[in-house]
Amino acid sequence: MRVAIIGSGPAGFYAAEALLKRPDAVIDVDMFDRLPTPYGLVRGGVAPDHQKIKTVIRVFATTAARPTFRFLGNVRLGPDVTVEELRRHYHQIVYATGNEADRRLGIPGEGMPRCTPATVFVGWYNGHPDYRQAKIDLSVHRVAVVGNGNVAVDAARILLRTSAELEQTDIAAHALEALRNSQVREVFILGRRGPGEAAFAPAELKELGKMQGVDPVIAPGELARCAGSDSTGDKEKDRNLAILRSFAARQPRANAKKLHLRFLVSPTEIIADAAGNVAGLALEKNRLEPRPDGTVAARGTGEIEVLEVGMVLPAIGYAAERIAGVPYDGKARVIANEDGRVVDPAGRAVIANEYVVGWARSGAQGLIGEHKRASAHVVGHMIADGAGLETRALPDRDAIVSLLRERGVQPVSFSDWKQLDDVEVVRGARRGAPRDKIVDVEAMLAVLGQN
Ligand SMILES: Cc1cc2nc3c(=O)[nH]c(=O)nc-3n(C[C@H](O)[C@H](O)[C@H](O)COP(=O)(O)OP(=O)(O)OC[C@H]3O[C@@H](n4cnc5c(N)ncnc54)[C@H](O)[C@@H]3O)c2cc1C
Ligand SMILES: NC(=O)c1ccc[n+]([C@@H]2O[C@H](COP(=O)([O-])OP(=O)(O)OC[C@H]3O[C@@H](n4cnc5c(N)ncnc54)[C@H](OP(=O)(O)O)[C@@H]3O)[C@@H](O)[C@H]2O)c1
Repeated sequence: MRVAIIGSGPAGFYAAEALLKRPDAVIDVDMFDRLPTPYGLVRGGVAPDHQKIKTVIRVFATTAARPTFRFLGNVRLGPDVTVEELRRHYHQIVYATGNEADRRLGIPGEGMPRCTPATVFVGWYNGHPDYRQAKIDLSVHRVAVVGNGNVAVDAARILLRTSAELEQTDIAAHALEALRNSQVREVFILGRRGPGEAAFAPAELKELGKMQGVDPVIAPGELARCAGSDSTGDKEKDRNLAILRSFAARQPRANAKKLHLRFLVSPTEIIADAAGNVAGLALEKNRLEPRPDGTVAARGTGEIEVLEVGMVLPAIGYAAERIAGVPYDGKARVIANEDGRVVDPAGRAVIANEYVVGWARSGAQGLIGEHKRASAHVVGHMIADGAGLETRALPDRDAIVSLLRERGVQPVSFSDWKQLDDVEVVRGARRGAPRDKIVDVEAMLAVLGQN
């Protein structure tokens, strides 16, 4: 059988691994990615000061070394190759395209300069080519990060790390330079619900209390104000509460940068100064209201305060992009599917031989390791559905590459990527970092002698 996997993040690689390890089938896997570089959010999302988690790429590189695996980077499904073409060249297709769009607060002022979605900020500091030219102005003193998830925590940490700490990481050189000159002294992480509902992981939260020259600050009474904050019945959330209580008990140092944690507030408007820059964030105080399913919702009380900040970073989640020819579930903002089988969003009829894994299947929830089992589960469906498919004659395996080249698209192979990888590692060694990323697709192709 011949399978196309679109997307080289964790979900795509775990699907490839599950397919290539099958003892009962000989499967050729072509993995496409719109970038010349593999690994999705492991390269473009995971925070640079969390290098250890990135070692998972060794597992993916082992999969890539299997003889029937082929990487076709720098090929975007949609403009460079269509779904129809993939259907002609492959027996089965797996979409592993992640969640690359951001969610919006939907409040006045959201589009103004210095209101930057986390997708942009994270992509910028991680050297994602899409965001290398993002305008991130760190001449402000106070920043609001909206959301209580791990991405909010990542963004706050990166804003407050010392440049000496960041230098040792694979942060993009342009971001390192900007953060070196940053004037940011205070960051506010704002949760719309209470501390007991916060989505961040205890380990990530705890790390905020151990940063060089940074004090976490929780105003007296802030935790008591949030009903139900003694125990949640959930181990992780209770650990969060214990950590937050320990933060609240600390005496902030006068000269330290401050990381404020606020709860039960929702932004209602981003306020501009006369020059059109962010000057503040209007916040409505919330109370918690039980939902029929036993969870709690934030409800506005009508009481408004203005938090003076010069920059707002909404970190309130991601959504899947629409891709031409791929069925989209507009409500869940994922590729329309039933348990990983792609379906027509209207009638829910299964579209034969097309599958979806990872965040494109389930939305932006979950850690890298969780995709191993989830992708293998979908591969189980592929094998069950695929009996006899291999008898359908396909064009020669290289025909897809010829088609792309005729169109002026230059696919990047895995050995090409290894060349880029070597260059980045050598560049990084100059500053004692694991790598210094090339952030521009043209420059990557130039290194490979392709433009
Ligand atoms: C900021 C951030 C930090 C995170 N940090 C951690 C962490 O520290 N630890 C942890 O366990 N988890 C972390 N996660 C979660 C983890 O990154 C995700 O669970 C995981 O990456 C999702 O895998 P995926 O393969 O579904 O998507 P992705 O990793 O997003 O991969 C999708 C791939 O598809 C490609 N693609 C998209 N559209 C197209 C197209 N049209 N044509 C071709 N290719 C396309 C993209 O270029 C990308 O390579 C983090 C997530 C974020 C957002
Ligand atoms: N170090 C790590 O392991 C790491 C790092 C980064 C990301 N990740 C993972 O990646 C996934 C995505 O992370 P994420 O932080 O983007 O998403 P997330 O965990 O879903 O958190 C999103 C946060 O935004 C809030 N929010 C949503 N809409 C809002 C609105 N309109 N106004 C105000 N707040 C709003 C949510 O509050 P409600 O709860 O009230 O909806 C929630 O606190 C998660 O599974 C995360 O664990 C892991």
